[in-house]
Amino acid sequence: MSHAAYVFDAYGTLFDVHAAVRRHAPAMGADGQAFSDLWRAKQLEYSWIRTLMGTYTDFWTLTEQSLDYAFARFPSADRTLKTALLDAYWHLDCYPEVPGVLKHLKDRGARIAILSNGTPQMLQSAVKKAGLDLIIDDIFSVETVKSFKTAPAVYDMVTTTYRLYPDAVSFQSSNRWDIAGATKFGFRTVWINRGNMPDEYADYGPSLILPSLESL
Ligand code: LAC
Repeated sequence: MSHAAYVFDAYGTLFDVHAAVRRHAPAMGADGQAFSDLWRAKQLEYSWIRTLMGTYTDFWTLTEQSLDYAFARFPSADRTLKTALLDAYWHLDCYPEVPGVLKHLKDRGARIAILSNGTPQMLQSAVKKAGLDLIIDDIFSVETVKSFKTAPAVYDMVTTTYRLYPDAVSFQSSNRWDIAGATKFGFRTVWINRGNMPDEYADYGPSLILPSLESL
């Protein structure tokens, strides 16, 4: 079944957030993956806690604050890499299948969009660096509603702008918690389980689970 719009989460779904640390793997040492996982976990925790508190600080600031925390927890990590790690966020690698899959969906007449916690500047930069700027029709950033996912107002930006019912939108994310929020909102959801993780949020399950975007 084809949908009027295919909307993608950005970080972890189109763009590889761990690429930043991998790029500096030799200097990061043995704890590189744990450092990267903690950086990402704290970045997301900060977004949820602020949204629960009813406050908003942009995702770039949270990315920097969570990186500082990761350095504090891993004293052996080389702090001189801070600028390079943050800089890498502006030109993350996209997963290899992304350009082909998005182009195929667009050729079938669907609108292609990103819906992300990132700031418009971060997202525009990553999209351009990955060469996706001619394929992606719209970038929806939470900056507009000043709440992070999984606030319903975030998902609502898409249906309000496109004047579509939620079930006309196919939403893809590798983040299972994001899939829960999007399913609750009413999107058709596809969990891109890149990490082969166990399922969770059983009451808000996806319509489909795929290992990558390949067979979308
Ligand atoms: C995003 C985060 C959740 O792109 O990865 O919205």
